[in-house]
Amino acid sequence: MATDPNALIARARDCLDRAYAPYSRFHVAAAVVDDQGRVFTGVNVENISYGLSMCAERVAIFSAVAAGARRISALAVTASGADLLSPCGACRQVLAEFAAPEAPVYCDAPGGSHCWTVSELLPNAFAASRLGRG
Ligand code: THU
Repeated sequence: MATDPNALIARARDCLDRAYAPYSRFHVAAAVVDDQGRVFTGVNVENISYGLSMCAERVAIFSAVAAGARRISALAVTASGADLLSPCGACRQVLAEFAAPEAPVYCDAPGGSHCWTVSELLPNAFAASRLGRG
């Protein structure tokens, strides 16, 4: 399902102020589109027990999965900081579970967005095919 990158980034930006980040004060928001064109959003949700904090990308992906999605066509992420953000390693592995290697990941930045594919972000991923599944 083709999705306009700017529209997906706009969906992420729309929920940036709902990030719950009282400890880092670094707000992150993400939007994913599934293979039916449905868009799901997420924000980072922190916890006083810091290690329990959850990234915006995984919140968006898990929201999609909870709604029945199994394939994610694209992800967009934006953040309150000035620099280009790219997803953390844990989010890359979770993304690789539901998105094709060639799926685009649009990373918002003040000077314009940057697009990487899933396989550029996580080359040689540990994938279901390595277990002989899928
Ligand atoms: N964070 C994300 O939500 N996504 C990323 O890709 C990197 C980091 C969050 C986690 C934490 O709440 C804050 O940003 C600072 O690391």
